[in-house]
Amino acid sequence: MKLLEHEGLTFDDVLLVPQRTDLASRKQANTETDLTKTFKLQIPVISANMDTVTESAMAIAMARLGGIGIIHRYLSIEDEVRQVSKVKRSESIVIEEPYTVTADQTVEAALAVMKRFGIRGLPVIDRKKKLLGMLTFRDTLFVEAPARRKVKDVMTPRNKLVVGKKGASSEQAIKILEANRLEKLPLVNGNGTLAGLITVKDIIEKKTMYPKAIKDKSGHLAAGAAIGVKGDYLERAQELVKVGADVLVLDIAHGHASYAIEAIKKLKARLGSKVQIIAGNTATYEGTKDLAKAGADAVKVGVGPGATCTTRIVTGSGVPQLTAVMEAARAARETGVPIIADGGIRTSGDVTKAIAAGASTVMAGSLLAGTEESPGPTISRDGVKHKVIRGMASLGAALGRAERTGDEMEDDDIQGVVPEGVEALVPFRGTAAEVVNQLVGGFCSGMSYCGAKTIKEMWQKAVFLKISQAAYLESRPHDLEKP
Ligand code: XMP
Repeated sequence: MKLLEHEGLTFDDVLLVPQRTDLASRKQANTETDLTKTFKLQIPVISANMDTVTESAMAIAMARLGGIGIIHRYLSIEDEVRQVSKVKRSESIVIEEPYTVTADQTVEAALAVMKRFGIRGLPVIDRKKKLLGMLTFRDTLFVEAPARRKVKDVMTPRNKLVVGKKGASSEQAIKILEANRLEKLPLVNGNGTLAGLITVKDIIEKKTMYPKAIKDKSGHLAAGAAIGVKGDYLERAQELVKVGADVLVLDIAHGHASYAIEAIKKLKARLGSKVQIIAGNTATYEGTKDLAKAGADAVKVGVGPGATCTTRIVTGSGVPQLTAVMEAARAARETGVPIIADGGIRTSGDVTKAIAAGASTVMAGSLLAGTEESPGPTISRDGVKHKVIRGMASLGAALGRAERTGDEMEDDDIQGVVPEGVEALVPFRGTAAEVVNQLVGGFCSGMSYCGAKTIKEMWQKAVFLKISQAAYLESRPHDLEKP
C-alpha cells in the first residue's frame, strides 16, 4: 500500500490566472486541434459514445460544427454500421432522384416543373430512365410559343453534355464543374441511365452553412464509432471501417488493462492506417503512456468524473479530473499522442481548464444529452421539457442494449449487474449547435484570458491557481435574490 502525497484536483478547485493578451477579440482565438495523431478538428468538442447522447443525428450536428460525434456501441453491428452510414450519406451533394422531364413534353410543361420546384435545370430522360439531354432555364429563354415546342427541340443533347459517373466523389464533381464552367452535372450509370444530379448551388450552400464542417477525403461528414475489446469487436471494427468510420473508440471503463493493450495491437495489425484508434479510459501518466506505446492514436482520460458515473462510489477508484488530465498530459507530450478529457464538463470554463491542463479535446455527455439531436423523446416534468440520460454502466443501459441487440437478459443476468452509473433527467437545452456554440465561445474568451492564440500556446502559458472554498463561492453568482 502506498499513499500519494499530492492532492487530486478537479475543475472547481482551480482558476486560470489572467495573463497579458494580444487578442483583440475572442474571434482571433484559433480552436483548431488534434483529435488524434493525424485527425484534426476545428473545435475541441466531441459528443460522448453514450446511448442517450450520440447516434447519427448528433454525429451529423457535431461534424457540421467542426467537432465529431462518436456513435455508441450498444447496438448490433448492423445497426451501428447503419448509424455511421447515415452520417456519411447526410452531406451528399448528389440529388439521387432529381426532377426530370421527357423529350416529348412541351417546353411549357417543363417550365411549369421548374417554377413549381424552384429549379433551373432538368435532366431529360426516356421511359427507361436513359439520359437524353439537359434542359436548363437558359435553353428556354428565347423560345417562342413554348406550348407548341418540344423539350427535345431546345435541350442540350446527350452528345454535347458533360456527365459524371455514378459514385463520383464531391472533389471529382467539383473539378468537372469548375473545368467546364457548369452549374449542373448529371451522373450516369454504366448503361447510360440517370443516376443523379449535382448542382453548384447545393455545393455552395453546404459550404457556406457549415464552414467548419469536418469531412473525410470523399467529402462526407466525419464520424466516429465505439467498439469494445471482447467478443466480436474485430468484426465490428472492420464493418465500421468499411462504411467509412474515421475513428474508432476502444471504449472500456478501465482502459489501462492488459486485454485493452492486446486489443489495440490487434486492431492496428488488422486495420493499419485505415482508421485512427482512440483508446481509454485512463486516469494516470502510466495508463496513458502504456496505451500510446501500444499504438493508440489518442487516449481518452477520465475515470469517474462523468455526471452519471458512480464508479468512484462503487469501486472506490478514480482520479479527480483536472489531476488526471495533467498527469495524462505528461505522457501525451512525451509520446506525441493527444488526449481527450472525458467527463465532468458542465461549463465553458471547464472546457478551458481541461484544455489548459493539457487536453487537446473534451468529450461531453450530459450537456449534449439535453439537446434535440440526442436519441430519445423530450419528456415534460412540471411543464418543463427534459430528456433522459443514463450512464453506459447503468442497469437501464444494459437492458436497452439487450433489447436492441436481441440478447435477452435473464433474471440471473440482471441480478448479476453491478451498475457503475445512474439514470436521470437533464433539462432540455435546445439544439446541439446552441450548446456547442456557447461552450466554444466561452472557451475562446478563456483562451484570450490566458493570452493564447492557439491551443498549443495555451498549454505553455496557462497558470492555474488553487482556490479556497470561499474563493469558489465568490466565483459563482452570490448575494442575490430571485427576481
Ligand atoms: P459527462 O459528465 O459529460 O460525462 O456526462 C460523460 C462521460 O461519462 C462516462 N460514463 C460513465 N462513467 N459510469 C461511469 O463511471 C457510467 O455508467 C458511465 N456512462 C458514461 C463516459 O466516459 C462518458 O463519455
